[in-house]
Amino acid sequence: MASKSVVLSGIQPTGTLHIGNYFGAVKNYVALQEQYECFYSIVDYHAITVEHDPQELRKNTIEMALDLLACGLDPQKCTLFVQSQVPEHTELSWILSAVASYGDLQRMTQFKEKGEGQEFVSCGLFTYPVLQAADILIYKASKVPVGEDQIQHIELARRIARRFNSRFGETFPEPEVLLTEAPRVMSPADPTRKMSKSLGPKHYIALTEPEESIREKIKTAVTDIGPRTPEKSPGVANLFLLLKLTAPQEIYEQFESDYATGTLKYEPLKRAVADYLVKMLEPIRARRAQLKESDVREILHEGARRARAVARQTLEEARERIGVGKLLP
Ligand code: TYM
Repeated sequence: MASKSVVLSGIQPTGTLHIGNYFGAVKNYVALQEQYECFYSIVDYHAITVEHDPQELRKNTIEMALDLLACGLDPQKCTLFVQSQVPEHTELSWILSAVASYGDLQRMTQFKEKGEGQEFVSCGLFTYPVLQAADILIYKASKVPVGEDQIQHIELARRIARRFNSRFGETFPEPEVLLTEAPRVMSPADPTRKMSKSLGPKHYIALTEPEESIREKIKTAVTDIGPRTPEKSPGVANLFLLLKLTAPQEIYEQFESDYATGTLKYEPLKRAVADYLVKMLEPIRARRAQLKESDVREILHEGARRARAVARQTLEEARERIGVGKLLP
């Protein structure tokens, strides 16, 4: 039997998941586990590349696992683990840094954005995409479900794989990006920017956010700034996207046709978006309330054990290839 293709993705433990993470990536994680060999990593070593509080990181790592399991990741169908529990990632990252181009890293927009205006920029923030490439390549993953903002990093991972293979022999497949139908969910408060926790609470909707707060954020979401045009403004397009993702198709189509005929009022649109979003999040919230932290720790422990068995083999292969393998047979 042909072995299943391998999928890997990673997510930073930055508190709770927001609906951008969910619609842009996590929804795909859940779907893919039915079909592929999936590894999902909570990437705590990436989270230390900017200033962080150790206590918070510890807490957020478990919170993220709770959120992911509540969304439908099934430990019987996928391997969920914490990156730092599989130290082979960091060793492969060092090896890959020798075939990663300095010039390529300088062109990474996430590095530029996160580093901009900061007094202190860590070297880890600069080499961050090399660790990300190691996360992927150590499982020889060929598919990487992510949102649009990560495409540049995955392309870099492809270049790193290619350069390694051409210098040391075919070792790593070149991973491809898998996008959802919502690769870029925007902030309700500023729909010209992507939904993100780092912009502040007005700019994201957490999966576990109280209903009133979700309704308030949708109600106050920015719609049209100037006059109405045939092309939807970013805020209106974002509301339509959320409606498409959560409402029955005929409801969505009705609002689309009202928009096309110029009869759409934003108030009912916003009410519908809030209603369907709250409804969609309800089972996730209910599942999360059932999960026990002690069980989650067990799941992560077992996940790391399974991930390590694969990671160790690839690392050994890479070490042999570059000439630093075993000293004794
Ligand atoms: P992170 O933790 O910032 O985000 C996790 C996932 O959520 C997606 N995402 C979005 N999608 C749509 N709209 C949005 N507004 C939005 N915001 C976030 C991200 O694209 C991502 O897929 N560097 C990665 C983590 C990482 C990784 C990896 C990913 C580390 N190693 C290996 C894939 C493979 C990051 O910071 O994602």
